Amino acid sequence: MAVTANVGSIFPVVWAGDRVQLIDQTRLPEQYELKDITTAAEMATAIRTMIVRGAPAIGVAAAFGMVLGAREYRGSDREGFLAHLENVASELRQTRPTAVNLFWAIDRMLGAAQQPTATLEELQQHLLETAQTIAREDVQTCQAIGENGLSVLPKTPEKLRLLTHCNAGALATAGYGTALGVVRAAWAAGRLERVYADETRPRLQGAKLTAWECVQEGIPVTLLADTMAAHCMQRGMIDAVVVGADRIALNGDTANKIGTYSVALAAKAHNIPFFVAAPLSTIDRKIATGAEIPIEERHPQEIYQVGFSRITPAGVDFYNPAFDVTPAYLISGIITELGVFAPADLAQGIGAVAG
Ligand code: MRU
Repeated sequence: MAVTANVGSIFPVVWAGDRVQLIDQTRLPEQYELKDITTAAEMATAIRTMIVRGAPAIGVAAAFGMVLGAREYRGSDREGFLAHLENVASELRQTRPTAVNLFWAIDRMLGAAQQPTATLEELQQHLLETAQTIAREDVQTCQAIGENGLSVLPKTPEKLRLLTHCNAGALATAGYGTALGVVRAAWAAGRLERVYADETRPRLQGAKLTAWECVQEGIPVTLLADTMAAHCMQRGMIDAVVVGADRIALNGDTANKIGTYSVALAAKAHNIPFFVAAPLSTIDRKIATGAEIPIEERHPQEIYQVGFSRITPAGVDFYNPAFDVTPAYLISGIITELGVFAPADLAQGIGAVAG
C-alpha cells in the first residue's frame, strides 16, 4: 500500500500478494501477531470476532474479503461470477450491523464488478485495485481529518488535554486513525499535552488498543476507567473530547462505541467541546436520524466475564449493546476530510438531502 511518510507504521489490513494480513486485535497488547486470511469466509469470521474492528478498517477488510471471494470462483461465465460475488457480499454484510463503512465498501466493490466488457481475470484484477484504492484513500482521508481537526481544537491552552473513547486510531482504519488522527496531528504540531483514553468496557479497546498505539508513537497517554471521565472534566483536566463514529445520520446523530453518549453528556455539562471525527464513508445518506441506526448486541460473556473469570452470579440477565447514539445537539463539530461541520449543516455540507 502506498502511503506518505508521516502516517506511522500501524497498518491493520494489508494485501500480501495472494492473501490479506490482519493485525490480530484480539491479541494486543500482549502479542503483536499477523493473521493470514485466505478466503472470504475467513474474512467474515475475522470481522465478526473482531480480529479486525473499527468502522473504516472493517470496510477495508470487507473490500479485500470481496477480492478473496472473487478469486474463489471456479466457473467461467460472467453471470455466475456476479451471482457468486453477491453471495460473498451477503456473507460479509452479516458480520456486524452498525458500522456503515462495511456496507459502503461492499457496495463499492459490487459496483466495480459491473464492467460489461471485462474478462473474469480483468474483473478480479479490477476488484483488487479497487480494494487497494479504498485502503489508500482511507489513509489519506484520515490525514485530512487530522489536519481539519487540528484547525478546530480550542486555541487555549496551547498544549491540550484531549479525551477519547474506544479506539479510533490506525488500528481502526487503514492507517493513521480518525479521532486518534486528530490526536496525532495535535501531537505533531506541538499542541498536545496528553491524551486521556477511556478504557471502554466491555471490550477494552481504549485500555488495550488506544493505549498501545499511543505508546508506539510516544504520545503521552493516561488511561481512565470509563467511570472517571466526568470527574476529570469537573476537575478541569480535559480541554476537548474527540471520538470516532460507526454511523452518522444526516441530522448529525452519531453512533459510536457504547459509553460515548455518557461522555458527550458529561462534556456538555462542563462546557467542553465534543468532536466526532469520521470519513464521509461513515455518513449514512439514507437515514435522517440516529433512531434508524441498527445497534449491534454482542454476547453477554463480554460483560459477565473479566478475563477468564465470571464476575456475576448465575440467575442474572444481561444486556450488551455495543454502540450508542449521541444526539446531534451534544456534538460541537463533525470533522471529515471535506471540512468540519456543525451537525445542522452536515447534510448540506456533504451535498446530501436531509430526510
Ligand atoms: O466494536 P468496535 O471496536 O469495532 O468499535 C469501534 C468504534 O466504536 C470506533 O470508535 C469507530 O468504529 C470509529 S473507528 C475510526
